[in-house]
Amino acid sequence: MRPQYDLNALRRQIPAVQSCIYLNTCAIGPWPDATRHAVAHVADMLAEPNRLSREFWAILSAARENIARLINAAPDEIAFMPNTAEGMNVIAHALPLQAGDNVLMCDQEYPAVVYPFMNLARLRGIEARIVPHDGGGLTLDLLERHADARTRAVAVSSVEFVSGFSNDLKAIGAWCKARGAWLIVDGIQSLGAAPLDVKAAQIDALASGGHKWMLGPMGAGFLYVNRERLNELAPPFAGALSVIDAENYLDYNLTFQPDARRFELGVPNAIGLAGLSASISVLLSLDIAAIHEWTLYLSDALLYELERLGYHPFVPRDCGHRSAIVSFTTSDPAGVAQASQRLSAAGIVHSIRSGYVRFGIHGFNNEEDIRAAITALGPLK
Ligand SMILES: Cc1ncc(COP(=O)(O)O)c(C=O)c1O
Repeated sequence: MRPQYDLNALRRQIPAVQSCIYLNTCAIGPWPDATRHAVAHVADMLAEPNRLSREFWAILSAARENIARLINAAPDEIAFMPNTAEGMNVIAHALPLQAGDNVLMCDQEYPAVVYPFMNLARLRGIEARIVPHDGGGLTLDLLERHADARTRAVAVSSVEFVSGFSNDLKAIGAWCKARGAWLIVDGIQSLGAAPLDVKAAQIDALASGGHKWMLGPMGAGFLYVNRERLNELAPPFAGALSVIDAENYLDYNLTFQPDARRFELGVPNAIGLAGLSASISVLLSLDIAAIHEWTLYLSDALLYELERLGYHPFVPRDCGHRSAIVSFTTSDPAGVAQASQRLSAAGIVHSIRSGYVRFGIHGFNNEEDIRAAITALGPLK
């Protein structure tokens, strides 16, 4: 198989792939050249704020538009956020939840999904209902078994950070809709490498940082809020930029912006957002569906070889749940450290999470990267 885009041209735009075999986008994504240039350009502007022109504000508007395009939302449904956790906290506190209501999630979620609701349990007496995963993620079967009349929301990652389980958001969205429950998604482990249409999946809110698969800088992310549900949410925080007529500073008119910008408090991370916007432009120009197809092809090849060599990959039974994250462990706990050493010695960048060696395969990876990882690992002894 070949990808439906010019893979070598993409690799030439990403300096990290010249110096190593980069299989760690699930931890932090490498920047394309365009991102570094965009960041430098805005840094130059901000170093001399007396020269700030309309271009600066246009860059921020374009960032909002690019983020919206990536998930099939409207720009006015996007609030800039520094990272996933802040977006998840904002939406958790904005939800109309009462004491005794519960929010369902599975026990493979990253803390950015879980802690906001555990904290809300502490503050407001809701229940963060954490249920044992089903094959690595959250399935309809789990929802059916663990939900009850007080289940008001489901919180889930698009892809789970260790198992790589790709949750069926369309099915979960339909289930939530039928039950009148909110669907809150953490998109950071797939956005940029797999298509996601928030409207088709009936997602009410989605938070994501931009520094993984979107290949953007740290500290620049967003919160999507479905505009049809905006008025059911109570903004938990307010700052100068959350309100209309923001430049009328001393009128103290706490009338929130009519759109998702009501969740923004103060000035955004312009440098980070300019970089994120440039990264998203690169990805959109390649076609995210084509990237997704290619990463699944490579991750299937890697899964097959890992099993052949005697490692224990996390393999979702249904291949519809596979993603660009491939993690494996060994029956002997020392095997994980040994495998990691072999990979590092061969210059293969990877991560270890919860007793698993974890790879993230993006659209810039090629078959040689997979072969190199397999050669470095060798058979499990
Ligand atoms: C599922 C998931 N959510 C969130 C994050 C990061 O959260 P934040 O953007 O708040 O640092 C990670 C990884 O670091 C993750 O794997």
